[in-house]
Amino acid sequence: MEHPLYVIVFFSLLLGLTRCAGNMKTFPQDFEFGAATSSYQIEGAWNVDGKGWSMWDHLVRTTPEHIVDMTNGDTAAKSYFFYKRDVQMLKELGVKNYRFSISWPRILPYGRPDYVNPYGVAYYNALIDELLANGITPFVTIYHWELPQNLNEQGGWLNDEVVNWFGDYSRVLFQNFGDRVKHWMTINEPHVHCHLGYEIALIAPLISVPGVAYYECSRNILLAHARAYRIYEAEFKSTQRGEVGFVTCMEWGVAESNSTNDKDALENFQALTIGQHMNPIFSESGNFPQKLIDLVNSASIRQGLNESRLRPFTQEQIESIRGSADFLGLNHYTSRIIYRNESLNGTFPVPSIYDDTFYGDYPHPSWFFHGGYVYEYPRGFYDLLIHLKDNYNIPKIYITENGAPSLRGEGRLNDTHRVRYFREYLSAMIDAIDEGVNVRGHFAWSLMDNFEWTLGYTVRFGIYDVDMEDPERKRTPKKSALVYKEIARSRIIDYNYDADPYTPSAASGRNLSIFITLLLATLKVLL
Ligand code: BGC
Repeated sequence: MEHPLYVIVFFSLLLGLTRCAGNMKTFPQDFEFGAATSSYQIEGAWNVDGKGWSMWDHLVRTTPEHIVDMTNGDTAAKSYFFYKRDVQMLKELGVKNYRFSISWPRILPYGRPDYVNPYGVAYYNALIDELLANGITPFVTIYHWELPQNLNEQGGWLNDEVVNWFGDYSRVLFQNFGDRVKHWMTINEPHVHCHLGYEIALIAPLISVPGVAYYECSRNILLAHARAYRIYEAEFKSTQRGEVGFVTCMEWGVAESNSTNDKDALENFQALTIGQHMNPIFSESGNFPQKLIDLVNSASIRQGLNESRLRPFTQEQIESIRGSADFLGLNHYTSRIIYRNESLNGTFPVPSIYDDTFYGDYPHPSWFFHGGYVYEYPRGFYDLLIHLKDNYNIPKIYITENGAPSLRGEGRLNDTHRVRYFREYLSAMIDAIDEGVNVRGHFAWSLMDNFEWTLGYTVRFGIYDVDMEDPERKRTPKKSALVYKEIARSRIIDYNYDADPYTPSAASGRNLSIFITLLLATLKVLL
């Protein structure tokens, strides 16, 4: 039956009105939802069934005062014992994917493959089988900061041998789990790991050799990532038919002013925190950003060194790293205002990565503060995604972590601030998808409350509450879990993030223009 044109236009207008009135946005048909965790943060069982020591086990035993509440991940959420409940939670949420990590020393207690711990293999086999039996797809992180202490004592990420160590460990995982795991991620967040672990000694291994160790760590992580990717490509891909991605955490930066100084500082910030790990893998150059190479080189010369502290890649290494990812795993939490830090001299050590790039950063006072380091600026998520599309060749993107910590004083289960965070950030993400950014899925960080590194249990990111006093570690859905579930079910979000006074929202403008176009079309037909 043919509909007269005005009926079609009437319903289009109605649809337009609903979309604008409720700010309704829809996810693409094949978009996937999930939740994420990492092994040390949830498993507990730190010395059970033959597990070796990681550098975190070492840190919390030797310097317990380094954790703000003097806690540790020894027992955490006890997922080693309660993993079936975790899988049920994913089912309750109605999500399709689970991102978790494998503990290197649980599989290889001494770090090297000459002894593979059968109990460790059995645990992850059981978890993977339980997920698959419940229709949930595993996305596995090979390394989420748990370096075996034995390898840490040999220099860890500062020893070039780590490339072989990581490659050999990855091969053990592909051999044991690759028949069922089809989505691998190599190393979680190189910038955060190398910055906090090797530049300012905030997390394990508590090393601070400013301006030197960061670059060495980062370089070795890129090479180790590429080694694992190439091993999979050569030895497993044709039979296992999976994919290997790279995960990095990026914040968005907004220049404080239009001055050349601030814009220049923003470029430095982006070169260090985005380009340092994105360029080698996802750009034609296969190398660090030229801007950063030049900055570190000139600072090194100024400091009387005869070579740059940012050790260059060989051509062979560049070939191996370039294009070594089937997808980007993007972890995103927050944004910063960036300015040129004139008062840096004397404030930071020389050398240091701060001295090399001389930017300063702070959160804008109008951004809602969630706790920890997370300030709400959803527009930054949108801008970051557009930046990635415009500057890199990325096959596809999964948002592998995104979330907010609980605010002190707010109800443990009634986490309305987190609900708003998810709705705003998902809304911004849909706007970016509408602009052509190839985002295929989103993982909430985190499935459950867990050990937040040096912040211990003072900050909680879970959408499920975990009662850490209860021997059974009772898990209860927070309001955010119920809302995330409803979003995943309906595949619709009726939210438009606030136009930010600092930078006006492009999204609201776009919705308004859809509405006006439909209205004009209707009037044209009716009049
Ligand atoms: C890390 C997680 C951490 C989360 C929240 C990410 O940088 O991958 O391990 O819990 O941020 O701070």
